[in-house]
Amino acid sequence: MNRLFAVALIALSFATPALADTVLITGSDRGLGLEFARQYAAQGWTVIATARNPDTAKDLKTLSAANKNVSVERLDVSSDTDIAALAAKYKGKPVDLLLLNAGVLGDLNHESLGGLTRKDFHDVMDVNVFGALAVAQALRENVIGSKQKKIVAVTSGIGSITAAGRIGSGPYFYRISKTALDMAMQALAQDVKKDGVVVALISPTPSDTDMLATFHNFYGQGGMKSSSPADSVAKAIPVIAGIDQAKAAQGIVVADGSVLPW
Ligand SMILES: NC(=O)c1ccc[n+]([C@@H]2O[C@H](COP(=O)([O-])OP(=O)(O)OC[C@H]3O[C@@H](n4cnc5c(N)ncnc54)[C@H](OP(=O)(O)O)[C@@H]3O)[C@@H](O)[C@H]2O)c1
Repeated sequence: MNRLFAVALIALSFATPALADTVLITGSDRGLGLEFARQYAAQGWTVIATARNPDTAKDLKTLSAANKNVSVERLDVSSDTDIAALAAKYKGKPVDLLLLNAGVLGDLNHESLGGLTRKDFHDVMDVNVFGALAVAQALRENVIGSKQKKIVAVTSGIGSITAAGRIGSGPYFYRISKTALDMAMQALAQDVKKDGVVVALISPTPSDTDMLATFHNFYGQGGMKSSSPADSVAKAIPVIAGIDQAKAAQGIVVADGSVLPW
């Protein structure tokens, strides 16, 4: 009888597909976010791809139409209403990986000495820092209730204070925002460590997105090598998978697997 029961259990486990892990991505209608959605979907994850304007997110809608495991949701990370609505809709649903990717470079004319403005500072900080933190705060129970329990924010190496002297001049607010994002996530890491959640910062290798094109148009290429979003994300995904508490605490994890000091 016991043997029969065991055989039935084994048969059932083959018949029932394992529940896929879930990733929720902010800013996934273009650039790296869209590529993360594509590649996680291709790997069989359940993808909650969020965008400020789902109605005009053509590529994302095409991806979702072709993949049952991709759903598209509205989320402007600077909107408390959007954040609350998303959290309410997904209440009680696990999110294994919360990927805080949405970001803005800001108006570069107002991010150099002599042209700095308070409004531009607030606009960049609101999206890049508070936006990420507010989404993490609202969805933390979803992450705590998941298997992987991971929050990963997409930062930039040009926010590293250690590297500042080597990098030279650059957009003030964007750099400040990424440094602040790093600390925001470190503070969050301390609060959710007890729940087994890993909070990490990842810096993609330079990737040919609208953001990088705007950056290069303003500052010049400066010999910087870059790759397609597809290649950058293909590198980043296994690195994200391998991040644990110890690695996350070391500094900014670069998508090539190295770690840059804060
Ligand atoms: N590309 C690189 O080489 C590089 C290097 C280091 C770090 N990063 C970081 O990687 C992330 C993605 O950058 P990217 O290069 O893919 O830039 P991108 O092509 O400019 O895409 C930015 C994404 O963020 C979204 N976004 C902006 N404001 C938002 C808001 N308020 N709410 C929700 N989404 C918002 C955009 O949505 P809309 O289409 O609605 O504007 C878009 O989907 C950013 O955090 C960036 O700082 C990029």
